[in-house]
Amino acid sequence: MKAPSESANQPRRLVVLVSGSGSNLQAILDACQRGDLNAQVVAVVSNKSDVFALERAAKAGVPTVHVGRQQDERRADFDSRLADVVAGFSPDLVVLAGWMRLLTMSFLGWFPEQVLNLHPALPGELAGTGAIERAWKESAAGSRTRTGVMVHLVPDEGVDDGPVLGTAVVEIDRTKTYDDFEQLMHDTEHRLLVDTLIEICNASATARPDHRGVSA
Ligand code: GRF
Repeated sequence: MKAPSESANQPRRLVVLVSGSGSNLQAILDACQRGDLNAQVVAVVSNKSDVFALERAAKAGVPTVHVGRQQDERRADFDSRLADVVAGFSPDLVVLAGWMRLLTMSFLGWFPEQVLNLHPALPGELAGTGAIERAWKESAAGSRTRTGVMVHLVPDEGVDDGPVLGTAVVEIDRTKTYDDFEQLMHDTEHRLLVDTLIEICNASATARPDHRGVSA
């Protein structure tokens, strides 16, 4: 994990990468606003120009940047451009919150031990997109009774499989609707993401977050 900013209490600089509604970004912004999280979202970067996450950032007075992939642009070239934009904000941490693109080392190599990802599944399960819906379908088939959410580091191009910083288990209640289940999963994401960031950002300058992680 990147060395803390200069002084023990200086808010950690977060750059948040988004691709959609930004409900996880909103949870971070709210936690900073409440004073619960010793951090400042210094920029929100999206690969899509028309997403509500950008409106949430603007409303909070946070600089926003849209970095869209150009036609026929190689993935590594896009990632290098994205890294250049993100590095320009001197982040302590880069938080992938609802970010929906796989990142190569052309991006990750710029931010060793600084990139965190939120994934709506438990370690080693349901990697990739649609994890919430897939968990629900597996529970309907009787092959799953629980799922969960995790926050992990992204050291390399592995998909949703980096060192785990926090997990939260969610029991699947089949007496409820899918919408109820999905909302419970998102609520759990919001809580775990903030709790994990608090664990890292509010730690004293000398403390080192260990990978036992947080369970919300
Ligand atoms: C969340 O389930 C997130 O984990 C996934 O996209 C969903 C919406 O995230 N990647 P947000 O509301 O855009 O933060």
